[in-house]
Amino acid sequence: MKIKNLKEINRDCMNKTIEAIVLIVETKVKTARNDKVYADMIIQDATKRLEAKYWDYEKKEKDIASIKEDEPVKVKCVVGEYQGRIQLTIKDIERTEEVIDLNELIPSSDWGTEKLEKGLKYFYDKVEFSHLKKLLDLMIWDEKYYSKFSSHPAAKKVHHNFRQGLLQHVLEVLKFAHTIATTKKLTKKQVSRLIVMCYLHDWAKIFEYKSLPTIGFTDEGTMLGHIFIGAHHTLNYINQIDDFDEDDRLVILNGILGHHGKYEFGSPVLPKTVEAQILHLADLASGDTESIISFTGEQEESKDSFTPKLWNMGTDYFKR
Ligand SMILES: [Fe+2]
Ligand SMILES: [Fe+2]
Repeated sequence: MKIKNLKEINRDCMNKTIEAIVLIVETKVKTARNDKVYADMIIQDATKRLEAKYWDYEKKEKDIASIKEDEPVKVKCVVGEYQGRIQLTIKDIERTEEVIDLNELIPSSDWGTEKLEKGLKYFYDKVEFSHLKKLLDLMIWDEKYYSKFSSHPAAKKVHHNFRQGLLQHVLEVLKFAHTIATTKKLTKKQVSRLIVMCYLHDWAKIFEYKSLPTIGFTDEGTMLGHIFIGAHHTLNYINQIDDFDEDDRLVILNGILGHHGKYEFGSPVLPKTVEAQILHLADLASGDTESIISFTGEQEESKDSFTPKLWNMGTDYFKR
């Protein structure tokens, strides 16, 4: 049974063999108890990511290892179920001659590029101090970074793990933070600092994560993390700007370093200003809501009232 996209796979396909064009975005080679080598894979197209087991991996190991992450392949799989979730068993993987637009195989933000870019410009125009605008010019709008910043994911799993995910997340954080800031009547200076911190708080994810379709951390990301890399680059750029206000420097760096809000969540310092606390709250609001919405949206239809536990939130969710 040929399917147009992975979203078509549901319980009606159980035990059927389906054929689809996908990207293999993760391959973990494992050894079963009986010493058989197999692979745990993640395959995807623009509509869905699915786990798949390839028990006969060993037979085609060389072939498969040479397939690049941005190379579309044709897979034949049997649809099954494991712990209430659809799981595929791969029967065959072949290179395909078909010309495929990669956009059809990489999930993207559903906000659309125009809306995302308009939003970014909207908040940039609200920054009232030239040295703060200059910092954003150097780190966001400079062509060295802009295409990465506007296409990168914001995470490997959990939330905003799709193309333009970082951009969408930053825009959500800007919207939430700006609403709190104006509701609480922060000064122009505070609002401007806060906007800059929102733009830059996860900026270094462009170095922490690999470019899609590859999923995962870079070596630099694993070794240093986006909080340190972000603060380090921001400080370097601040030092290039003449007469950058000393207090702004401290507040912005504290905002970046403290945006995870707690030591145990990877922040080396705690938020020390109301701007930094607002950034942390807005970041949490964007991440948590997106992770619940995408997780509940991925669930298969079943009689269960609740989803399985969403590990980063520590609870299950009501489905109806
Ligand atoms: Fe972060
Ligand atoms: Fe964030």
